[in-house]
Amino acid sequence: MTDLVAIARSLFAEGKGLLAADESVHTATTRLAEYGVPAGAEMRRQYRDLFIGADDIGMYLSGVILFSESLIEKGNDKKLFPKSLASRGIAPGVKVDLGTEPFPESPNELITNGLIGLPERLVEYKKQGAIFTKWRAVFRIDGDTLPSSQAIHENAKRLASYAKEAQTAGLVPIIEPEVLMEGTHSRTRARTVIEETLNTVFSVLEEHSVDRAGIILKTSMALSGSGSRKKDTPEEVADDTISALMKSVPRQIAGIVFLSGGQTPNQATENLAALISRAKEVNAPWPITFSYARALQEEALALWKGKEENVPAAREAFLSRLVKVSTAVM
Ligand code: 13P
Repeated sequence: MTDLVAIARSLFAEGKGLLAADESVHTATTRLAEYGVPAGAEMRRQYRDLFIGADDIGMYLSGVILFSESLIEKGNDKKLFPKSLASRGIAPGVKVDLGTEPFPESPNELITNGLIGLPERLVEYKKQGAIFTKWRAVFRIDGDTLPSSQAIHENAKRLASYAKEAQTAGLVPIIEPEVLMEGTHSRTRARTVIEETLNTVFSVLEEHSVDRAGIILKTSMALSGSGSRKKDTPEEVADDTISALMKSVPRQIAGIVFLSGGQTPNQATENLAALISRAKEVNAPWPITFSYARALQEEALALWKGKEENVPAAREAFLSRLVKVSTAVM
């Protein structure tokens, strides 16, 4: 039997973390357009190859989360992406949710889909080389009213059903209840929402008999809303985030990874370093690392612009950011 706990733990190797390269077709298209890169499957493949094909990423990455189409695509080295990663000691993972839609009971909120047909897709992804998976739920803060308890509960139930299915299929689940930074809320409100959401998520996981020791939590940092104009110091972010996690996350889980959520690469790096040192001060029970998409990719995408001749400079920027983020978690 696959030892899911050992696999989950191995993603927290010293100084290493995850690259999220699992943008859906829609998100990838929007992201590339921001950098003037045209749409289409071939540009998306080159976009993935820019990061996956970079030399030396194995020094900083324990895993890469892929979008399902990348499991069956080849890099410029003619190797399938999962094989190319695995041959360098990097675990291939896959996003398995199918995105969000408005929650019928509360249409300003989002619910994540993808449970229908999930067992069959998991079997397929495993055959294609994935060893871990991710499911993202999204929570928007609006004053004291959102997120609603119904939306939290329904998303938590789906996260738990997914986690159970993933473990049954022999794949490590990363559960990602993301609390969005967009909004005018305070950091304290973000901290409260993170804590409440995680309390619900972990109690529902318990009801679904998910093996806690084999799951990874992917979470947001407690940040003032991006529309609030308040600039949090890394120490403030670290204090509030670790305090919320200590009150809501069981000690038994395999570990915690952070998403970058729209922070600049420097912010996401500095906040992570402060979080790690705060976690050490309070003897937090879980290993912690990064699982960034935007904060790892942004500088490289700005240089690449979809042009072959810019690949070396873009990869250099990516590597340089990886070094900084890796240093932050040591
Ligand atoms: P960001 O780091 O850009 O927030 O993305 C992480 C992620 O995986 C979102 O699902």
